[in-house]
Amino acid sequence: MSGSTRCLIAGNWKMNGLVQDSKDFIAQLRENPAAEHVEIALMPPFTLLHSMSKALSQKGVVLGAQNVYYEDKGAFTGSICPMMLRDAGCHYVILGHSERRSIIGESNAQIRSKLNASWLHGLEPILCIGETLEQREQGVTNHLLAEQLAVLKGAPKDKPLTVAYEPVWAIGTGKTATPEMVVETHAFVHEELQRLGKDCRVLYGGSVNPGNAKELMACKGVEGALVGGASLKADSFMQIVEAAASVAS
Ligand code: 13P
Repeated sequence: MSGSTRCLIAGNWKMNGLVQDSKDFIAQLRENPAAEHVEIALMPPFTLLHSMSKALSQKGVVLGAQNVYYEDKGAFTGSICPMMLRDAGCHYVILGHSERRSIIGESNAQIRSKLNASWLHGLEPILCIGETLEQREQGVTNHLLAEQLAVLKGAPKDKPLTVAYEPVWAIGTGKTATPEMVVETHAFVHEELQRLGKDCRVLYGGSVNPGNAKELMACKGVEGALVGGASLKADSFMQIVEAAASVAS
């Protein structure tokens, strides 16, 4: 974890969570034990954003969404615009998650439009990038990551951004990248971001859990985690926050 930046532990609930789950989660959530060093965010599904907003903010947790559409309003049935997310209390929005790229077919061009729309309305995007196992084995990881980061070409310098490196083969599989891989890839991502004039926090994501969080968060160039499965329960999520705090403080 590098020096002065406050790291971010963000929980991505994906398509999980009913009203009762959100109530249980909030009841079990402890206050951030290390707010000075660690920021906590949660991205529940759209249906829970507004109802969770106040209780989360009272516990020092920042709200985010998992996706957004790039138009402002109008005849786009089923879509959610940036203003709606702001209205529900969101600060963050995840963009380009590999599940949206591979299952929904989201393109880099669409992600670029979503970045612009998010910035226009005061949201902070968490831009997800990552290679498949096949791409890693073919030795094209850096090439692919550079291509995904190229959506930042010409982006305004002053707009907030967080990047999450999530190797696709580590998502939901229980496999994590080795610390060596994480250090090497994060160094490349930071270099590339610097070249694009948008160096920012880079999170690691992919099977982060209470057992491996400390080792992963201690890797150079890692400024937090994007957590899927282990964020669904307040207890395991907070254990990851504590692991990050022990490395950051
Ligand atoms: P898991 O932590 O469940 O592997 O998910 C990672 C992820 O995709 C977070 O966005």
